Amino acid sequence: MYTELSIFLLTLVMGAFASQEQFQTFDDGVRPTAQHCCNTLETVLSSSAILYTGSSGYTAQSSTYFVPDQAAQRPACRIAPTTADDVVLIVKFATASRCEFAVRSGGHMSWEGSSNIGPNGFTIDLQGLRSIELQDGGETISIAPGLTWGEVYAFLKPHGLHTVGARAPGVGVGGFLLGGGVSFLSMEHGLGSDNVLDYEVVLSNGSIVHANQAERSDLFWALKGGSTNYGIVTRFLMPTMPLTQLWGGFLKYSVNAAPQLYERMVKATDQLKVDPRGLMVLCTAWNPATKEHAVWALAVYLAPLEYPSPLFEGLQDIEPIGGTTRIADLGEFLNETGQVLPKSQYSQWFTLTFKADANLPWDVQLKGEDILGDLESPGAHWEVLVQPMNEGMFSAGQKRGGNPFGLSVENGDQFLMLVMVFWTNPEESALMKAKTQEYLKVSMDLARERGLLTKFIYANYASGTQNVLESYGEENIKKMRIVKEKYDPDDLLKVWKGGWKL
Ligand SMILES: Cc1cc2nc3c(=O)[nH]c(=O)nc-3n(C[C@H](O)[C@H](O)[C@H](O)COP(=O)(O)OP(=O)(O)OC[C@H]3O[C@@H](n4cnc5c(N)ncnc54)[C@H](O)[C@@H]3O)c2cc1C
Ligand SMILES: *[C@@H]1O[C@H](CO)[C@@H](O)[C@H](O)[C@H]1NC(C)=O
Ligand SMILES: *[C@@H]1O[C@H](CO)[C@@H](O)[C@H](O)[C@H]1NC(C)=O
Repeated sequence: MYTELSIFLLTLVMGAFASQEQFQTFDDGVRPTAQHCCNTLETVLSSSAILYTGSSGYTAQSSTYFVPDQAAQRPACRIAPTTADDVVLIVKFATASRCEFAVRSGGHMSWEGSSNIGPNGFTIDLQGLRSIELQDGGETISIAPGLTWGEVYAFLKPHGLHTVGARAPGVGVGGFLLGGGVSFLSMEHGLGSDNVLDYEVVLSNGSIVHANQAERSDLFWALKGGSTNYGIVTRFLMPTMPLTQLWGGFLKYSVNAAPQLYERMVKATDQLKVDPRGLMVLCTAWNPATKEHAVWALAVYLAPLEYPSPLFEGLQDIEPIGGTTRIADLGEFLNETGQVLPKSQYSQWFTLTFKADANLPWDVQLKGEDILGDLESPGAHWEVLVQPMNEGMFSAGQKRGGNPFGLSVENGDQFLMLVMVFWTNPEESALMKAKTQEYLKVSMDLARERGLLTKFIYANYASGTQNVLESYGEENIKKMRIVKEKYDPDDLLKVWKGGWKL
């Protein structure tokens, strides 16, 4: 039975895939187990590693997910393609034979199953797609999705260049850009995906196509918020920008300074209209060891200038209890931001977007105390992180052709909030997950009651339970569906699990 099936599948893959009927014929037949899918692919793929549970390669790949819930999933195998052609074979085969799979780039998405899968499927691990090169005399950079942003920046460093990528080195190129992507450069240049100049993408039927402003501009637009709906992107073309030294660091404050700091942040966000080359991010966190909250401000300016005006005017009047602000190399700086979020702790994230406001963030923090404050575990804590999404970010996106996110200058300056709940004891997972969902609801209600809530839910920060795509607005979803209908008319990619599905 198994051999017969394998030969049949093999014939399908090696054959010309001449017509859609061939897929249909098989679709009516037996669905192979994930193990069969892996075994068959092993005979087809020449240069890709196929790793099974128990092998050191499999363990190594699993361990690089950011959160333990994702790392703990056990796909039947992990397939690590090293060429786009292998991605083509995998996608053709999986869609034809209805093998379920997940796709992983940097493995930093926060919810279980977003880029990994259980024993009924396999995971395509893109870490082997590592090509990177400057093009157009250094004005653009072509990046494969197996790289992390830290690797991209290390490559760009000798050239004194940077690009619109993540603010922590471990984040993957693929997931960041398929969800939007907030960069140090976003206040001026828009989201990461606003800046993509060209996508090389493997569609559900196995064709490799390019999508850009001139060619397949509908797909180009949709991919900027496309998540896992249109295909596996095997290359991104991005612009480069000069950046070497900057000023910034973390400033730690007592909790009493929170109201003043949030007011300062509202002003700084407004002042991005005058100078978009910096940002202030505020994070309030409960420290279970000292049993008190503290506030951390991440202050960044993209040039070697201390407390530049007007962005950081008045910040020095608020006395910190510690800090690391300095003029430093970008790389050194990224090492610092990369260590902020605790890795390998159980965690649940959620996000909301609201009109820039000084009171709501602290009130959300206080709601956290109501909901999570008396949890007995010493390992449990939560953080509320707020960053600006300024009008300049939205207009920059518009200028670059627009995106599906449904945010525009008319919304005014926004605050993007990320709430993270952490714990260390897996036996508390069910309780902490339920508490996080309660916290999400209470926070949303609070923002709504105050008339501050904005519809947009950021894909890269959201809980798996949030209605991300719906938040882009009816009009945009309709457009995204039309693009889907055109490039994956039979919804062959329904076997691709994880991410945000139309
Ligand atoms: C420490 C840390 C720092 C962060 N910093 C930032 C930040 O500065 N700015 C910001 O905006 N966000 C940030 N994030 C959030 C981050 O953008 C998301 O977690 C993002 O999804 C991670 O991308 P990834 O490739 O690492 O994730 P993965 O988990 O590998 O992928 C995420 C999703 O994208 C899909 N995907 C990945 N690659 C491809 C591809 N090539 N084609 C099609 N689909 C693909 C996956 O299937 C999955 O659904 C941070 C997260 C962490 C943990
Ligand atoms: C960043 O950290 C890595 C790993 O610890 C280290 O090798 C590298 O030198 C650091 N880079 C800078 C610029 O500090
Ligand atoms: C795959 O789909 C794309 C988009 O619909 C189409 O342009 C292309 O011709 C198709 N390729 C094959 C081999 O059918």
